[in-house]
Amino acid sequence: MPEIVKGLKDVYLDTTESSFIDGQVGKLLYRGYDIHDLAEKSTFEEVVYLLLYGSLPTAQQLADFDAELRANRRIPNEVIQVLDLVKASHPMDALRTGISALSAFDPEVADNSIEATIRKGIRLTAQGPTIVAAHHRLRQGLEPVAPNSDLNHSGNFLYMMFGETPDEETANLLDVDFILHAEHGANASAFGARVTASTISDLHSAVTTGVGVLKGPAHGGAAEEVMKMSLEIGNPENAEEYARKHLEAGGRIMGFGHRVYRAEDPRARHLRDRARVLGEKKGEPRWFQILSHLEQNTMLPYRDRGICVNVDFFAGAIYYLLDIPDDLFISIFALGRIPGWTLQCVEQYKDNILIRPLLEYTGEMDLEYVPIEQRG
Ligand code: ACO
Repeated sequence: MPEIVKGLKDVYLDTTESSFIDGQVGKLLYRGYDIHDLAEKSTFEEVVYLLLYGSLPTAQQLADFDAELRANRRIPNEVIQVLDLVKASHPMDALRTGISALSAFDPEVADNSIEATIRKGIRLTAQGPTIVAAHHRLRQGLEPVAPNSDLNHSGNFLYMMFGETPDEETANLLDVDFILHAEHGANASAFGARVTASTISDLHSAVTTGVGVLKGPAHGGAAEEVMKMSLEIGNPENAEEYARKHLEAGGRIMGFGHRVYRAEDPRARHLRDRARVLGEKKGEPRWFQILSHLEQNTMLPYRDRGICVNVDFFAGAIYYLLDIPDDLFISIFALGRIPGWTLQCVEQYKDNILIRPLLEYTGEMDLEYVPIEQRG
């Protein structure tokens, strides 16, 4: 029997210059820069530049790059029509469909050169929010709002969603959230995107794969589940009993645990503080109190087993307080992750090998084929 590494746990697939993760101490670097510095000092636009080009931009480079993102936000009317046809579907299904549909209108869809892939990654990063916002409005019977090139990436997304210019603080909050979700090594969705790229398929196909993989509750779906749980718990006093019963029944507390981190996910820190502040500002501190109670009490013994909060634990409360419906939480994660998927595909194309593992067959052998009329 060959050695089987279920879930490819702890298997190194390749080398990367994208991000560094030390799961034992909870350290995350994008292109060598600490996530804490990027979350506190950078912008999503700058982080996208850093990821795609490998170094921090000069002021002029950033201004040009930002202008390119702003100029590429529009999506063709035909894609809006497709989104209208699928308006009853989950926002992640609509995003997956929308990205797939955009491939019909991208002049470079079949060009898998590094330069074209980066250009397509920039376009998809810019167009992704337009898809999500247009679908969200269409499903409410509202007209999509055209992108506003006076607003930054995050501000424009909120503007297209709600039809109003957000205040700076709210746009900044989303900006930090996008930064924290931008890249994370060989996570399941990036791996899915890499598998697609490894067949020399194109970036639209790879990003479509990434969206499909991200959708599951074991990956990007956790923020939505955390908020659903918080709503069910209702009050901090109920948290302990709810969580205990849930765990005793063999359930998991969503937003805890990670395949790589044995210490706290470093991204969670930035969302924890912001969830608390936002909750107080909105006069709804209880959601943070519920989460805090779970973290400090029920789940405290789990820390010793390396099961700590992950990036999704506080994200849900922030989205909820920003009036973002819970079925849109994963889409926001996906919008932040498009640059990371692009970078993973660029690295895959640069030194490609078809990703094709093996499965050890454990079924029956050499059975006799019985014609259907003779089967009992
Ligand atoms: N709550 C309770 N127990 C947990 C949790 C949790 N959230 N996560 C893991 N455990 C326990 C498991 O029950 C298992 O216990 P056992 O050894 O007694 O059977 C042990 O920890 C190991 O769990 P695995 O599922 O084998 O670990 P894996 O590395 O495969 O799982 C995963 C990682 C899927 C993220 C898991 O921790 C989980 O299901 N968490 C909840 C979902 C979640 O928050 N996902 C978001 C991840 S972050 C992201 O994708 C951005």
